[in-house]
Amino acid sequence: MKISWYLLLASALMPLISCGDQAPGESESAELSKDSYNEPHRPQLHFSPPKMWMNDPNGMVYFEGEYHLFYQHYPDSNVWGPMHWGHAVSKDMVHWEHLPIALYPDSLGYIFSGSAVVDWENSSGFGKDGQPPLVAIFTHHDMAAEKAGRSDYQYQSIAWSNDRGRTWTKYEGNPVLKNPGDTRDFRDPKVFWHEESSKWVMTLAVKDHVRFYSSPDLKSWTFLSEFGRKHGTHAGVWECPDLFPMMANDKEKKWVLLVSINPGGPNGGSATQYFVGQFDGKNFTVDPAFAKDVENEMAVWLDYGRDNYAGVTWSDIPREDGRRLIIGWMSNWDYSQVVPTQAWRSAMTLPRSLYLGASGQGLRLFSRPVAELESLQRLSYSLDARPLSGEFDLTGSLEFSPDLMEVLLEVDFPEGTAADFGLTLSNAAGEEYSIGYDASKVGFYSDRTRAGAADFSGKFAAQRHLAPRVNPASRLRFHLFIDRASCELFADWGTTVMTECFFPSVPFDRVKIYSKNGEVQIVSGQFHQLQSIWQ
Ligand code: FRU
Repeated sequence: MKISWYLLLASALMPLISCGDQAPGESESAELSKDSYNEPHRPQLHFSPPKMWMNDPNGMVYFEGEYHLFYQHYPDSNVWGPMHWGHAVSKDMVHWEHLPIALYPDSLGYIFSGSAVVDWENSSGFGKDGQPPLVAIFTHHDMAAEKAGRSDYQYQSIAWSNDRGRTWTKYEGNPVLKNPGDTRDFRDPKVFWHEESSKWVMTLAVKDHVRFYSSPDLKSWTFLSEFGRKHGTHAGVWECPDLFPMMANDKEKKWVLLVSINPGGPNGGSATQYFVGQFDGKNFTVDPAFAKDVENEMAVWLDYGRDNYAGVTWSDIPREDGRRLIIGWMSNWDYSQVVPTQAWRSAMTLPRSLYLGASGQGLRLFSRPVAELESLQRLSYSLDARPLSGEFDLTGSLEFSPDLMEVLLEVDFPEGTAADFGLTLSNAAGEEYSIGYDASKVGFYSDRTRAGAADFSGKFAAQRHLAPRVNPASRLRFHLFIDRASCELFADWGTTVMTECFFPSVPFDRVKIYSKNGEVQIVSGQFHQLQSIWQ
């Protein structure tokens, strides 16, 4: 492996930021982590843990002006291990304040993924002084039972907080939903209040399908139904489901079921598929129009990039806001534990707002970056309308480095063209990353095959990653967020999304746009420098 300057720097920093006896979130580690947010590859727009290992987002709930983000966390190592729930809060989903670890492993096991709700009516009885409690519902994973060869080592438990999520008490009656004994994969409870039937509903991932349960009080759970053995893809294990209502085209009520799967994603490894249908308080059924796309092991994907997994939505977003907000884990189990960062491992995606609307292929979920991110814009550069054939270097025109940047490009593709249009970031080390649209393939691509370190895993950059275009309009819209070591593409108002990480040996400080195999018409272009969220 090539030893580059960032690895040397990261290993020099390690003694400073590796964990001591102090719990993360306490003042000393908070101080050190602040300095460490400038390491090479450390995201400047995305949430990443102060130190060590992170995977799935958990327990996202909005309460008293704060967006809570918990996360799968192992504070003692930069690879997966005994799972805790790390914790952070934000007033805008953009700037984050780290809080002490919320849930530690205990005699029932590691704390795996799950959700959190505001128990407004105090159905659980955990409330205090007339204030509703926050209740977390999560999987306990009993390592000892797993090692002993048992198959009932995953079960669901709860904990509550009476102080805005600052401290948590685990329920003495845990587990609240025992493993029926028939499956090792019985996890990731996502709970919501189902108004029509006045009860809590839990969606749980069970190996190759999901199961629904209901409860009057979050403590006793009754099996309702199951879904999925014959729908979607089963190339891997089903994980981290989420069921929620959405207004299709702003007028017709539908239910959306997200299911993450690992492996089996459209470009390999981990990814999130979804289903559009109805939920009557007991059964989830796929809409007939959507069913044709999820039969015979076919799937519809939330994000075609390699680095968006286990995303679920925020609970208790105020009605007057009305958005369905989601964040995912910006990595992939194919290589997450060996990516070339040492002090911390992995980040979350940018927060996104979901929209269910018509596309060229029927109803589809659109993902759009939340409007709050606009507050990060600093210097801006506008590109005038122009035809483009060949390359157009923008490096000298921008008064900022392109590795922390938002880009909006509207491009007309002539009828029947084979043009391949895109944007390339590059550096003095000869590394480059490209993202674009190839009209001859009716598809977007993300190419990190020459974007820096890749030898840590043969699965990381073996080929370009592809995403179909489903919007039929001749005008394409590219919305990009570049954050040092990642790029998120929201194409055509979020109809097609690709989230990808890369690891250049020195920062990408050059940028160009190009059109190969034909001419396209640039309608408009905006390039915004973005301010780090950690400054
Ligand atoms: C998904 C997942 C979940 C599990 C957690 C463990 O990435 O495998 O199914 O609860 O990670 O960390």
